[in-house]
Amino acid sequence: MLDVGCGLGHVTADLAGRGLDVVGVDPSREMLEIARRNYPELRFVQDDAQLESMNLGGQSVAAVLARCSLIHLPPSDVPNVLAGWAVRMAPGALVAVAGQTTDSVGEVSEFDHAVAPAWRWHPDRLAEALSEAGFEEVWRTISRPDAHHSFPELHLVARRRCWV
Ligand SMILES: C[S@@+](CC[C@H](N)C(=O)[O-])C[C@H]1O[C@@H](n2cnc3c(N)ncnc32)[C@H](O)[C@@H]1O
Repeated sequence: MLDVGCGLGHVTADLAGRGLDVVGVDPSREMLEIARRNYPELRFVQDDAQLESMNLGGQSVAAVLARCSLIHLPPSDVPNVLAGWAVRMAPGALVAVAGQTTDSVGEVSEFDHAVAPAWRWHPDRLAEALSEAGFEEVWRTISRPDAHHSFPELHLVARRRCWV
């Protein structure tokens, strides 16, 4: 599986610790330097969510996790990125996307992220984008803002359909 936008690799390491064959992918050389230093036994590749330089050696991807990373893509790039994942995945393969969301139906809006430009997708808009790329939603949960989180947060899992 791929941990897209793996950052410092904490989640990649957690997944590997659970026995999953996972590769961390991130466009940031600095992030990957730290990830590789912290987890020298794991595989990390410098690439962005488009995965254009990933050589999978003909293997299909069983699952993609994008935790707080897809939110950093300009919304107009997201359909292409999701379609690129779909062609690398067999029917039944899973995508899990997590990040800040909005309660405003239909909305995708830029928000004030501390580090980089970022967008909050309404869950239905994200599910729709995934569906157009060939994934059907299987599960979602939304947590409410609290003392540590300014916005609601979405976790959404979708499965690659047999057809696009
Ligand atoms: C908030 S961190 C999340 C890191 C990790 N997924 C986690 O949950 O701890 C966001 C990450 O997304 C990465 N990112 C930004 N733009 C990206 C893109 N176009 N494609 C893939 N990752 C991207 C950043 O380099 C950063 O490591």
